[in-house]
This record gives sequence, C-alpha cells and structure tokens, in this order.
Amino acid sequence: MKVRIFDTTLRDGEQTPGVALTPDQKLAIAQKLDELGVDAIEAGFPIISEGERQAIKSITSAGMRADICGLARTERKDIDAAVAVGLNYIHTFIATSDIHLQYKLKITREQALAKAVDAVQYAKGLGLKVEFSAEDATRTDREFLKKVFKAVTEAGADRLDIPDTVGYSTPEYIAAITRDTIDATHLPVSVHCHNDFGLAVANAISAIQAGAQCAHVTINGIGERAGNASLEELVMGLQCLQFDKKYETNINTKLLYETSRFISKTVGVHVQPNKAIVGENAFGHESGIHTHGVLNNPLTYEPISPELVGRTRWFQVGKHAGAHGISSMLEEYGIQPSKEQAHEILDKVKKLGDLGKHVTDVELLSIAGEVMQQPGLKRMVHLIGFSVSTGIGNMPYAFVKLNIEGKDFIGTDYGVGPVDASINAIQKITGEISKVRIKDYRLESISGGSEALCEVTIKVEDPYGNQASAKSVGEDIVITSVQAMIDGINRIMLKKILKQKNLGQ
Ligand code: KIV
Ligand code: ZN
Repeated sequence: MKVRIFDTTLRDGEQTPGVALTPDQKLAIAQKLDELGVDAIEAGFPIISEGERQAIKSITSAGMRADICGLARTERKDIDAAVAVGLNYIHTFIATSDIHLQYKLKITREQALAKAVDAVQYAKGLGLKVEFSAEDATRTDREFLKKVFKAVTEAGADRLDIPDTVGYSTPEYIAAITRDTIDATHLPVSVHCHNDFGLAVANAISAIQAGAQCAHVTINGIGERAGNASLEELVMGLQCLQFDKKYETNINTKLLYETSRFISKTVGVHVQPNKAIVGENAFGHESGIHTHGVLNNPLTYEPISPELVGRTRWFQVGKHAGAHGISSMLEEYGIQPSKEQAHEILDKVKKLGDLGKHVTDVELLSIAGEVMQQPGLKRMVHLIGFSVSTGIGNMPYAFVKLNIEGKDFIGTDYGVGPVDASINAIQKITGEISKVRIKDYRLESISGGSEALCEVTIKVEDPYGNQASAKSVGEDIVITSVQAMIDGINRIMLKKILKQKNLGQ
C-alpha cells in the first residue's frame, strides 16, 4: 500500500520554539522536500504574516511536483488569505476536545461543529481541496469526534486528519479512532502525531495499519514542544519493519540524510546524536563486539544498510573497542598491524579511555606509529603559541604560532569575532603550506551555565578533495575551536601522506 507523506516542516516544524524562517529559506526548504519526494507540503499559515504570505506565494508558483497546502482556522478570513496566495488546497482545523472548547475557544460543541461545517462549505464553494482536522482529536469525546467528521464529510471535505495534538494517544487508541473515522465517512484519513511521550511514529504507524492513508510528518521530527512524527523514522519504519502488508512511499530514501542536514542547518535546530536514521551515531560502532560483528556481516548490528538513507557506517576507537575494529580503521589508512601490534595498540587506546579520553583518528595513527615503529604516523602540526584580543570598538585580532614538521610559522589576522580571527590566522599559515580550508564549523553547548562545556565540530578540505572532520570539547570556545581546527588539519595531512605512500607502494 502506498502511504502519502504530508510534510509539515514548514508549518508545524516552524512552530518549534525559537525557529523563524525567511521567505527565501522557506522556498529553499520546499525545494528540498519536493526533491525528496514528499506528496504534500504544508507551506505555512497564510493569515499570520506578510512574510508567510510571500513565502507561500513563491512556493505555490515554483511549479513543484508536490501538492502545496496552507493552514487555515475555520474562519472565512483565513480561507480568503489562503486563496490570495495562490493556494488551491487548505488544511482547516478547529479544536473539538472539551478542554479546548471550554478554556481556549469558549464555545460549545454545537458551535464548533457549525463553524467546521461552515468553513468546509465556504472553502468548497471557492473550489478548494479541503483537508479537515479536528484539533485535539485524541482527547475529544469519541462519539462527538465521529459526529464532527461525518458532518464535515457531508459538507464536502476531501480528506480528514486526526491530530494527536499533545501526543496523548496510545497506538491502540489512535488505531481505534482511525477505524471509527473511516467507517463513519469513507474518506481518506491522515494522522498528525505529536511526540510528547515519544510515541509519535509508533502512533502514526498504528493508525496506518488501521487504514489511515497519510501521515503528517516533519524532517528531524521538529515541531511544537517535543515535535512531530519524524519523516525519516516513519518512512524507514514503514519500508523496513515487518507488517502484515507491504507499505511504500514516494520518498527517495537516499536523500534523507542530506535533507536532514540541510533542514537542521537552515532552521538552526541540532539533531541529537542518538536520533534514529539521521543522528550522527545512528550508523557508528564503538564496542569491540559490535565492530567485530559488523565487519563480518553488517546486519548483525545494523537493521538497515546506511547507504539506503544516504549515509556510511563508521567506527570509533574507544575503551570498548576490539582488535578487529582497530585493524579495520587502520586499514582505511593503508596500515596493517600484525595481530600482536593490534593488541598493543588496543591496550594503549583502552588506557586512554579509562582516563576519560576520546581517541581521535590522528591519535590512533600516532599510537599505531609508535607501536609499529613508523615515526611518519604522527601529528605534523602543533600549536605552540596563541593569543587573541577582543572587545568593543576594536576588531578581534589573533596571533597563532604553529610548528609544522619541526619548522615554526606565525600567522596573524582579524575576524568578525575571536573564533573567526583565530581560524583566519591558522588558515593564513596552513593555506600557504597545505591549502587546507574550512568547510563546516559547528559549535554547541553541551552543559549549562557560564562555565558550560562546548563542543566544536569542524570539517576541513584540501584542494585534492581530501576531507576530514575533527571534534574538540572544552570550556573555552576559542581554544576549543582552535584545537578542533588543528586536529582537522593533522588528519587531512596524514590522509594525504598515507594516500601518496599507498600509491607509491
Ligand atoms: O497538532 C495539531 O493539532 C495541529 C493542528 C493545526 C492540526 O498542528
Ligand atoms: Zn501539530
């Protein structure tokens, strides 16, 4: 069965606390969603602002393959605003639960029912395609919910949506009300699940098993509070898990990771590392037992192949590592330790792990170099001097002294901030020597307070297409950024040397 994917990243996703998008950003996201293969894009809520209207106008006139929809309350002015921006498909909603009726709308059930019917009739009279949502459906009296859905069906609604507005449903309950709705109306039914109890995707899948044909989802599960059902989890769950029936979508799953990264960057909401499918760790392996299993057959510890969602697997050395994993990581650099050497390297890695240290590739290579007596495998770039000045009225200025393979180099530069100045100063030196430039920089706070720890992830690239990422954790944003940058440069220089060595062999 084909499941329709209704993406609401641009509407419910934009309701994520702290997120606000410009019309250009919204258009760029809509284009990515269209390429990904979503069936419908909820582009926004036309009544709310001029920028929103501009964004929706540009999306509706961009000639996308997906159906473009806009949100409207059951108010004629909202529906008119949707028509004015070129929409021919609206998602109109009114709350139906007693708690919303009594405390938010301050109207009776009968008044809500009348408003719903009026809005659907009005929109149909304007020639629109209408999807109707009974907001807070899962906390609505079950008989009243059926009555509302029946009435809007008679008024001409094309589709119905069951919102689990505060993520309150269980998989069993949403399945039951999905069946009620289909039996009472025979219309195509969607589900719109929020993740307040971490059940959004499970609830959406359960509703689909009960006959819903469509799910409202967002990329990375962003949305109000704990977010919405995540597109990537739902799509991969439907495609890969065992059901009585086979479910398919129009999503090009190979674009999932790239789309997730693009949305995360554009909306400024970081994806947690342990997030299913698109989190950094979703296809990473550290423990020796797992690494060994995956090297023999990836399906031992990977439910799906990472390539299916546009990713690659990776191994991390750490205190749980095993000799197989270490050997396989070193092999990527063309280094083949003997069994004894691999165990000796592993011992050293475990000792560092017990001291709470995270072992980077560069450190692993340098340990391997020591054990295998290959002195070439060592850090080439060392930071030996660094200072930065910043303040109000003066442009931040940095001084950096690096030792590269025994020779000292000095770089100085200005920047828009102290991190920028420091990185510019480093790039002045390494740009001349190795032409390494920074491709991506990400800074996150990983604990609270003014003494918070920060984590900097940096991606660097050289003119030969070699890329390397490095991560550093520390208390000082500037020093941590500089350390990550130096680590990245070391990794890329080592990669280049090892490549040349292997080619020469
Ligand atoms: O969660 C919700 O109830 C909504 C409505 C607008 C359908 O987003
Ligand atoms: Zn919602």
